[in-house]
Amino acid sequence: MDWKNTVRKTLDYMKKPIIRTEYVRTSAYPGLEGMFEGRNVLVTGGTRGIGLAAAKAFHACGAFVIVTGRSAEKLREINESAASERFYAMEWDVADIPGQEKKMEELDGVFGGGGCDILVNNAGTNRNEHGETAGSWDGVSETEWDHIVNTNLKAMYFLIQKFAKKWMETFPDKERHIVNVASSSGFEPAVLPYGISKWGVVALTEGFGRKLAPYGITVNGVAPGPTSTFMASKMDDAEDLSYQAIPRRCYGVPEEIANAILFLASDYGKNIVGEVVRADGGFSLTVTGGQ
Ligand SMILES: NC(=O)c1ccc[n+]([C@@H]2O[C@H](COP(=O)([O-])OP(=O)(O)OC[C@H]3O[C@@H](n4cnc5c(N)ncnc54)[C@H](OP(=O)(O)O)[C@@H]3O)[C@@H](O)[C@H]2O)c1
Repeated sequence: MDWKNTVRKTLDYMKKPIIRTEYVRTSAYPGLEGMFEGRNVLVTGGTRGIGLAAAKAFHACGAFVIVTGRSAEKLREINESAASERFYAMEWDVADIPGQEKKMEELDGVFGGGGCDILVNNAGTNRNEHGETAGSWDGVSETEWDHIVNTNLKAMYFLIQKFAKKWMETFPDKERHIVNVASSSGFEPAVLPYGISKWGVVALTEGFGRKLAPYGITVNGVAPGPTSTFMASKMDDAEDLSYQAIPRRCYGVPEEIANAILFLASDYGKNIVGEVVRADGGFSLTVTGGQ
């Protein structure tokens, strides 16, 4: 083949959209089934999307898992279809800060002795209190700011504070993990409350990573890029998940993000502290400016 042909073929290939149909959708983890045996895991916002995928993965690896959410219908659906008593969905609005203590007691009641060992701070939203996606910086209202920042950042801060204090008092020798779900937007210039809240998540992950490591509490985070969930409005049953703006040329799927969360909560992530792992297909490396 002459060089002109080679160049033409290469250019044709580069122009062609890559439609990915194979993703890491693992619900069985060969060799790792018992990795989280005896561990109690709380996944906030685990009734769908990334949280639910992480919860299923922890459960598949032997953990007792509790997921939280607000939609009564979703919670009922999960509890009715759960194949195991060690997978339970609990009504809990994490943004209700004064209510957190009572919910933690309820949680202990379900887990029984030992309490929670792994906290996955996943609950998050990019929508205002009416379920609309925030548009532009000049239209952001105070209530919208409060709704998004309280859910994504304030709730996470106070949950970490309460769990850490409790863990330091009870069985202080036990190893505990916290994994915070950040976002690739936490590495991009931000003008909307969502992105700004995720910068906060990156900051507190580093801060608490350092602060809590001496107490056997390992804090890390995962920053997904566009992932096919309700939030990103590209549902994971869509046939074509290609997205040319991402170097990997496709949306992530919840199971791929779940794998990163499990890694950080496992013994494999033991020496990783205060790190926010970007699981974004290279998206945050392409940043050109604010939203
Ligand atoms: N999908 C993406 O492209 C993407 C990208 C970067 C980062 N993330 C982050 O990944 C995390 C999960 O997002 P997702 O894409 O899986 O979103 P999702 O499909 O919208 O799921 C969000 C989950 O959080 C729950 N939730 C929301 N507010 C809550 C609250 N106040 N209290 C308790 N639960 C609450 C929702 O249930 P209820 O509504 O019933 O409460 C649902 O279970 C979020 O932190 C998000 O910021 C997602």
